[in-house]
Amino acid sequence: MIQFLLNQDLIELEAVAPSLSILDWLRTNKGKTGTKEGCASGDCGACTVLIGENKQGNWQYKSINACLMLVGNLHGKHLVTIEAVSQNAFPEFDDLHPVQKAMVECHGSQCGFCTPGIIMSMLALYLNHTSYPGKSTAIHALGGNLCRCTGYNPILKAVEKCFDYPRANFNWQAELTLLTTKLAENAIPNLTNQNCHFYLPQNLADLVKLKAQMPTAQLVAGATDLSLAFTQQLKTPQQLISVSQCQPLIGYQQNQDGMFIGAATPYAEFIKQFCQIYPESTELFNRLGSTQIRNSGTLGGSIGNASPIGDPAPLLIALNAKIELASERGKRVIALEDYFIAYKTTQLKPDEVISGFYLPPRPLNLTLACHKISKRIEDDISTVCLVMALTTDNQHIITANIAFGGMTAIPARAKQTEAALIKQPTELATFKAAAKQISQDFSPLSDVRASAEYRVKVSENLLIRSWHQTFGQIEIQKNHSDNIQLPATRVQHAAL
Ligand SMILES: Cc1cc2nc3c(=O)[nH]c(=O)nc-3n(C[C@H](O)[C@H](O)[C@H](O)COP(=O)(O)OP(=O)(O)OC[C@H]3O[C@@H](n4cnc5c(N)ncnc54)[C@H](O)[C@@H]3O)c2cc1C
Ligand code: FES
Ligand code: FES
Repeated sequence: MIQFLLNQDLIELEAVAPSLSILDWLRTNKGKTGTKEGCASGDCGACTVLIGENKQGNWQYKSINACLMLVGNLHGKHLVTIEAVSQNAFPEFDDLHPVQKAMVECHGSQCGFCTPGIIMSMLALYLNHTSYPGKSTAIHALGGNLCRCTGYNPILKAVEKCFDYPRANFNWQAELTLLTTKLAENAIPNLTNQNCHFYLPQNLADLVKLKAQMPTAQLVAGATDLSLAFTQQLKTPQQLISVSQCQPLIGYQQNQDGMFIGAATPYAEFIKQFCQIYPESTELFNRLGSTQIRNSGTLGGSIGNASPIGDPAPLLIALNAKIELASERGKRVIALEDYFIAYKTTQLKPDEVISGFYLPPRPLNLTLACHKISKRIEDDISTVCLVMALTTDNQHIITANIAFGGMTAIPARAKQTEAALIKQPTELATFKAAAKQISQDFSPLSDVRASAEYRVKVSENLLIRSWHQTFGQIEIQKNHSDNIQLPATRVQHAAL
């Protein structure tokens, strides 16, 4: 059984298909059709709902895509849908919540199909800020929500205006307390429907035991990637084991030995810390999916998917990260670079799970540059991703890690390009010469995102751009509204 709150109602479920999305459950099983289905693939945000999670007694709310998140992962959480937003009745605002009232006043809705999703993204922002956090934060909060008819300016005005009204707070304390008391009796929350099963182990021993018993079972974390197999390819898995509540896989630790990030930690929970150490990766993370995707998606899911175009792999490989794999036989740690063998083939054994990632401490003399080429700034997968990590003395390159996504069947280092950089002066000519080696390192494919020729050319240009960004003296003209804080020794970069 799994237990959670739907708005103010305690829900207990036992017989539900493991691959059922929250969106389908809401609309078909509960008749709650306020949450809309636009794309069923995480791209439009029409299905946005809020998830509340108990963090050491403090309930925190975030936006997610209901079309991607699985019902089984709701265990112990508070699901808030559009139906609950004005339910509490705010008479001073005509029974609308301030986010809804602001949308009306600013004319932020026309056909209205996107509006419930946008209201929920606004509500997440509202609940997490007591005053307007600024336009850049507002744009990020709405980056995963498409509107096809209103235009975004009235919506952004509404985001600002909702903070002008007196605060309106929800009071769900009694229901949240009831849920918390109920949960204690549940050992391994699960769902069963005919011959299909969903398991939600809470500790590592139960997780690896289940995986050893069912080596063909599919693992799932945030389901931002796996759900597409259910919603687009209509696959129906027999056994799903969710790692999303396995405590040792959640969170991060940082000390003098570096950083450990649990495989099931949603991006949103560690990227702030990560970007304090590596501020050059801020834009890469800000452009990974959308707020909704980053609130659910995990590093374990990205590397577990083994896609050649996932953004985290080139970054982690360039930073010499290691991956930890766990099973009933124990744990093993290998270089992430060696984890990928061939397209979607990795070193993961059928009884293993990815438990986390180790990053060494940042070298003092590290020069880092991250670039993502995609057709959209927000919510779009890479055509090419380049991460350059160099160590240097004052004038020469000592070590070079140049990792690419989108250039071959796996995330990989450009070894000949690296060789052309090592021991060379940190001058533009060095990078221009090294860029010529990229076509020796890779023979990329042409696909819907780009031709092979484009991929090679853009990679060459990105390497040269990396020089301008790091060693060159070009003033900034950012292509995004992020407030990127680079180390004082670095000149912020221009969009070349
Ligand atoms: C609209 C949209 C935009 C996106 N944009 C980007 C983007 O810009 N950049 C990018 O890199 N990605 C993007 N993605 C892809 C995806 O969100 C990420 O890859 C994310 O990190 C997947 O994490 P997850 O926890 O949701 O994985 P899941 O979907 O839960 O799992 C993905 C795969 O990993 C396996 N897996 C999960 N956890 C483990 C584990 N602990 N051990 C072993 N295997 C495991 C699963 O079995 C599955 O095969 C996007 C996806 C969508 C839908
Ligand atoms: S329906 Fe489009 S993001 Fe979910
Ligand atoms: S109001 Fe029509 S899609 Fe946004």
